[in-house]
Amino acid sequence: MADKHARPDSSPDTSAPAVTRTMHGKILLVGIDNPPVNALGVEVRRGLLAAIEAADADANVAAVLIVGAGRNFIAGADIREFGKPPLPPALPDVCNRIEACKKPVVAAIHGAALGGGLEIALAAHYRLAVASAKLGLPEVQLGLMPGAGGTQRAPRLIGAAAALDLMLSGRHASGTEAAKLGLVDRLAQSDDILAEGLAYTQELLASHASVRPTRAANALADRDASRAAIDAARKDTERKSRGLFSPLKIVEAAEAALDLPFDQGLALERKLFLQCLDSPQRAGLIHAFFAEREVAKAPETRSASPREIARVGVVGGGTMGAGIAVAVLDSGLPVTMIERDDEALARGRAHVERVYDGLVAKGRMSADAKAAVLARFDGSTSYDALASADLVIEAVFEDMAVKKAVFAELDRVCKPGAVLATNTSYLDIDEIAASTSRASDVIGLHFFSPANIMKLLEIVVPAKVSADVVATAFELAKKLRKVPVRAGVCDGFIGNRILAVYRTAADYLMEDGASPYQIDSAIRQFGYPMGPYQVVDLAGGDIGWAARKRRAPTRNPKARYVEIADRLCERGWFGQKTQRGFYLYPEGARTGTPDPEVEAIIDAERKRAGITPRTFTDEDIVRRLMAIIINEGANIVREGIALRPLDVDMTLLYGYGFPRYRGGPMKYADTVGLAAILADLRAFEKEDALFWKPSPLLVELVERGADFASLNQQ
Ligand code: 3HC
Ligand code: NAI
Repeated sequence: MADKHARPDSSPDTSAPAVTRTMHGKILLVGIDNPPVNALGVEVRRGLLAAIEAADADANVAAVLIVGAGRNFIAGADIREFGKPPLPPALPDVCNRIEACKKPVVAAIHGAALGGGLEIALAAHYRLAVASAKLGLPEVQLGLMPGAGGTQRAPRLIGAAAALDLMLSGRHASGTEAAKLGLVDRLAQSDDILAEGLAYTQELLASHASVRPTRAANALADRDASRAAIDAARKDTERKSRGLFSPLKIVEAAEAALDLPFDQGLALERKLFLQCLDSPQRAGLIHAFFAEREVAKAPETRSASPREIARVGVVGGGTMGAGIAVAVLDSGLPVTMIERDDEALARGRAHVERVYDGLVAKGRMSADAKAAVLARFDGSTSYDALASADLVIEAVFEDMAVKKAVFAELDRVCKPGAVLATNTSYLDIDEIAASTSRASDVIGLHFFSPANIMKLLEIVVPAKVSADVVATAFELAKKLRKVPVRAGVCDGFIGNRILAVYRTAADYLMEDGASPYQIDSAIRQFGYPMGPYQVVDLAGGDIGWAARKRRAPTRNPKARYVEIADRLCERGWFGQKTQRGFYLYPEGARTGTPDPEVEAIIDAERKRAGITPRTFTDEDIVRRLMAIIINEGANIVREGIALRPLDVDMTLLYGYGFPRYRGGPMKYADTVGLAAILADLRAFEKEDALFWKPSPLLVELVERGADFASLNQQ
């Protein structure tokens, strides 16, 4: 077992048992060994059950010690089994059997003890954890709730408030915190989990410790305090968990822990868990869980080794450059910022310092830590300062001539092998690369604003870039804790290309009769944090206006063009920063109120365009906006701009606020049914054949009776 514990995480060895049993004196050591994270697949459940049966039947066994091999105790139920026919034994039965064991059962926890993993530990009679362990009940993040006794045992062990906090947030508590909460009985002195577990079990045996079922624990004894905690959690959940299904079920189950005998509480938990399991939200969230891991595995990450990145340069210290500098500094790397002149450099530096000042003010960073980070940051107005950089990220004005001039400079000063990246939102990166003598080193790294917060990083792959540069970009994303999505070169890549049609469809709806306020509200009801017009007001209407003016000469004259936003911009109404845009923001308020003058402008524009306004229901609005997003997503996959539908899903989830519980637009399309989406597009096509033309990929999938998920597995 000691060797097993040191097991490198590798692909599962199907010949090895998932649960091992070895005797250490009178202690039966039960090792969970199911790489990569010891999930509770059927083999583990069977093995655990058999081990407890054996312990009870064997007079030589005085106690049982459960330890995980590799880096974790147990990461929870095997998520891949959800949605498939269940195979016995069920996890709640395994937990109950552990609790009913006649010999003391000890769980020794290192790494993750999450979900069903923690429920196994809760069913044991004694728990020990190392300080760095991660204990939690994260089922809520998968659209689920603890389903193996966690909702009944956790409140009895640590009280309603602490249990609800863990179950509703899904957060991980450290071993140290778990010991304080009473979730574990003992904090290990060292990280040698096996030695610590054996010593603790030995000690329990020496003190004649008996079995101690958690179901009998009495942390709910103060009924009034427990009731108050449950009521408060319910109120909070109703306010916060917009549209989510499982949080209220969690509260209901926790209340049963207070009101019902254990077995009845368990039965209710089972019923509620199965309801969660059946919900489309569970399917959407689990899709997101796997997809966000899958996007990080681009073909180049398998075929090439990343280049070493020890020093990073950022050109441009504006909104994006400063945010990117912070993101890179946060990963521990040094950053050199280049700006046009001293004044702009000072602004960039001030922006970076402001971020850390904010953290210090909120008590989230010490002054010393801030000083240590800023010691890795320097700036210059001379490109020569980039001579030793391994990677340079350009974030200057969105203007091809300016970008080309910057890349010519980079070509001149950067050492051979340095990766040269652009943060352009729309420009042709092949053209930027061609302006250097080293196109194979040039790549797109498209961050999102604020770059130190937003998780999405589009890695845009031009034709001539070498595979190891792509692999380097993915490695950097990992270091920066971003979700990387591989994208091809086109106008807007994946995210902004979809954003463009979404906005256009919203504008059509607005001109045809829906108010911007109804459109925003319908989209919020669907699960987005903000509607399209709130986003315009937040980002600044002038940005889109400048882009529209730039594109005007190349716009398809046959394409419908809605001028309402231009009318607002002509009045200087750019959104929050000017106190009015589509909404009014009295005295810099961040939530806008509807503006009758905007409605009058919309009315006038409708008249000018000869449009008699129609009524749209909220459902009409959502159907149109989703149909166009999905259709563009299909085109993007068909053209190879995105590798798979799941790459489109992750782009919208992590960069554009698409509701996670729907899994992303392509997953949502599969849930609704592709035939229904196509039927909508065909109906809308009658109004505007150019805009609503169904993607050939969508048509083909419907003809074949296939779905987008089938393309994710390729
Ligand atoms: N089931 C199946 N596979 C899982 C899994 C699980 N519970 N947890 C992780 N994996 C897989 C991942 O998909 C990944 O597979 P891949 O290598 O093929 O991409 C691999 O294990 C490694 O995972 P990570 O890349 O996430 O590894 P990390 O070391 O970064 O993180 C972890 C480890 C903290 C355990 C993280 O994987 C995690 O949070 N897992 C999910 C934990 C969870 O949600 N548990 C609750 C499950 S629901 C439940 O238990 C219901 C019960 O109440 C009845
Ligand atoms: P910005 O206007 O805030 O900053 C640009 C900065 O570049 C300015 O500080 C300017 O002084 C500097 N600069 C200009 N020419 C330079 C040169 N030759 N050498 C050094 N510095 C120079 O612009 P922003 O918003 O930061 O955008 C930068 C890039 O990032 C653009 O390509 C934009 O499309 C892209 N982008 C912007 C996003 C956003 O939300 N603002 C999101 C994602 C990408």
